[in-house]
Amino acid sequence: MALDKRLRRAVNATIALSILAVLVAWYLWPPLLQSQPWLEAFGTLLALSIISTLMALQVAEGGTTSSLEFIPQLAGVMLLGPAGAAMIGLLSELFSTLFDHQKPLFKRAFNIAQMTLSAACAGLAYVTFGGPVSLDSFLLQQTFAPFLLAVVVYFAVNTGSVSYVVAAAQGSSVGDVWRQIAGGLIAFDITMSFIALVVAVLYAAFGWIVILFAIIPLFGLRYSYGVNLELQQLNTDLLRLMVKTIEAQDPYTSGHSIRVSETARAIGRLMGIRRRRLRQIETAALLHDIGKIDVAYSEILRQKGGLTPEQRDLIRDHPDRGVEIVKSIRSIPQVVLDDIRFHHERWDGDGYPTGLKGDQIPIGARIIMVCDTIDAMTTARPYRGALPVSVVKEELIKHRGGQFDARIIDAVLEADLLGRLFPE
Ligand SMILES: [Fe+2]
Repeated sequence: MALDKRLRRAVNATIALSILAVLVAWYLWPPLLQSQPWLEAFGTLLALSIISTLMALQVAEGGTTSSLEFIPQLAGVMLLGPAGAAMIGLLSELFSTLFDHQKPLFKRAFNIAQMTLSAACAGLAYVTFGGPVSLDSFLLQQTFAPFLLAVVVYFAVNTGSVSYVVAAAQGSSVGDVWRQIAGGLIAFDITMSFIALVVAVLYAAFGWIVILFAIIPLFGLRYSYGVNLELQQLNTDLLRLMVKTIEAQDPYTSGHSIRVSETARAIGRLMGIRRRRLRQIETAALLHDIGKIDVAYSEILRQKGGLTPEQRDLIRDHPDRGVEIVKSIRSIPQVVLDDIRFHHERWDGDGYPTGLKGDQIPIGARIIMVCDTIDAMTTARPYRGALPVSVVKEELIKHRGGQFDARIIDAVLEADLLGRLFPE
């Protein structure tokens, strides 16, 4: 199906579902539009939600944003019911799009729909599982379990619908987009949701004055979100800058480190490596040849023809030189340094710099060794073209258990990773 068609279908589906969810919520738990206290609570939470929307931050390169509007919306679920919460989502998002003329219309319509849908579904889950809707007081033991469910439903619908549409727009897999969008922030967001419980309880006890108490932590949170995201971005930018520096030295390795890092992530996933370790391996893969920026290598890297024994010794030193450079970044953990240091160690112990063997070599280094070799074979060199996938597979099988960890090769072959990465 054409990309545009898929995107339009995904956006239309979200809009249709949001309308359906609002109708169901409105019909089964009608909002108390005639009640003055209900309207006051609605106005207070809507104001909070609009403020949060205006403070939204850009999260990923795909243009998705993160804001704290889920806090007033989830408080709305408890104080106003599902239809009220959905209206807060709808109106605050509608209000924020008034100031955002750069976004295309369908993107704005999608944002409004997905926000409304998330709040409505969270509300419906909450009331269906016995959560009390009240402006007066809460029995916390009755509220807690349905609230937790509402939080889970809210984020599942929110991140799920955004990933679905972004994946349709990019032609990538929903799971990959979800990990990119939600991976780093969802635990933080779910933890922060408990502020919604506090806001609802305080509102029930003290009325609108609570907005003053809520705004201060919201600003604090927004600030810490911002600093966190900026730091992450700065780290990524710095790493990429370092990688570009290596590649500027060695004209034949353009894009090599990024490809190795991407393949390492794919292999790590196949092997069931946990997310945190996976990220460390990706970083190490990105930086594995950073040692080559040392001036000692500039001549060798540009040299055509064979190396002298001295030059070969010098090349064998690049993992250690890399570690010396990367060590200066304090936020990079020891495991990443070890992955870099040992990325030329062989499973049979014939590698360098130390001749480690088998499981003594960190898993990250073993994976990088495989990816490094795959990339070298699948890219063209001045003396030969890129090798076909069938030849690469033969090489991997030939050195399985010798140069490479057999389990990694088995995982690569079983999942036909090469076929997927390099379709013929
Ligand atoms: Fe290397």
